Amino acid sequence: MTVYPRSSAKPILDSDNKAARLEFLEIDMTTQHLSGKVALIQGGSRGIGAAIVKRLAAEGATVAFTYVSSTAKAEELQNSITSAGGKALAIKADSADAVAIRNAVNATVEAFGRLDILVNNAGVLAIAPLEDFKLEDFDQTLAINVRSVFIATQEAAKHMTEGGRIINIGSTNAERMPFAGGGPYAMSKSALVGLTKGLARDLGPRGITINNVQPGPVDTDMNPASGDFAESLIPLMAVGRYGKVEEIASFVAYLVGPEAGYITGASLTIDGGFGA
Ligand SMILES: NC(=O)c1ccc[n+]([C@@H]2O[C@H](COP(=O)([O-])OP(=O)(O)OC[C@H]3O[C@@H](n4cnc5c(N)ncnc54)[C@H](OP(=O)(O)O)[C@@H]3O)[C@@H](O)[C@H]2O)c1
Repeated sequence: MTVYPRSSAKPILDSDNKAARLEFLEIDMTTQHLSGKVALIQGGSRGIGAAIVKRLAAEGATVAFTYVSSTAKAEELQNSITSAGGKALAIKADSADAVAIRNAVNATVEAFGRLDILVNNAGVLAIAPLEDFKLEDFDQTLAINVRSVFIATQEAAKHMTEGGRIINIGSTNAERMPFAGGGPYAMSKSALVGLTKGLARDLGPRGITINNVQPGPVDTDMNPASGDFAESLIPLMAVGRYGKVEEIASFVAYLVGPEAGYITGASLTIDGGFGA
């Protein structure tokens, strides 16, 4: 297998070590906790979702992920994983569309034979002054940020067995919303707190966990760590900086791994002290 490590322009000949072959993902993995597992990430083409796709692949999981508009980025991510010896599948599926979500879950199971991990990451952020906030944006926020989580979980749970793991990507804005115009977004992320608790009761007896990861400001297209908006947010973090997508992905990797079986129904904040 020929691989191009990030620090070298020359290919190296690798043995049969998959962890080494996935070195391009910029993670030094010595063990592959997720070997044999199949994961589906809703919204995995960019930002936090793409980092989760890469991290789970680097830990040995086979990874399917959805996207809605970034076809080129989705293909690139899929190819980068498969050419490094992993298994990945990009699926175009709008998280506002119930049928598309169910089809994505079933396409994953058809392609890879099982489903062990679901990460509900797809999300949108609409901000507008109260008087201008459009009802269609309100409805879209609820459909993508909340309803899609319920639909995907309902469909995925049909295929999951003991040890299954579901992660919702909420937001620290469920607990603290420091600016105007984001009420519907904060509401959608608060809804995930209750949804996660309730679903934990449905899934717990089957040995499946579900948790809600609440990031603070993280540098992505949705919330770039530069510009006026970032300038007003950075002083609110105890650590004085934006989070990195890899920091969220590593937290998710722990929660979907074998050591996290006693954590469920929890909303876990990772926000550099934004809510402190
Ligand atoms: N960045 C932050 O500061 C922050 C903080 C707290 C929580 N979060 C949450 O973290 C999650 C990811 O945010 P991000 O910052 O990584 O956002 P992002 O950079 O805008 O990326 C969003 C991802 O979700 C996908 N997506 C959006 N709408 C979709 C839809 N209708 N159907 C399918 N996929 C869809 C996008 O696909 P396409 O590429 O095809 O558009 C993309 O892969 C969201 O739930 C967000 O609310 C973010």
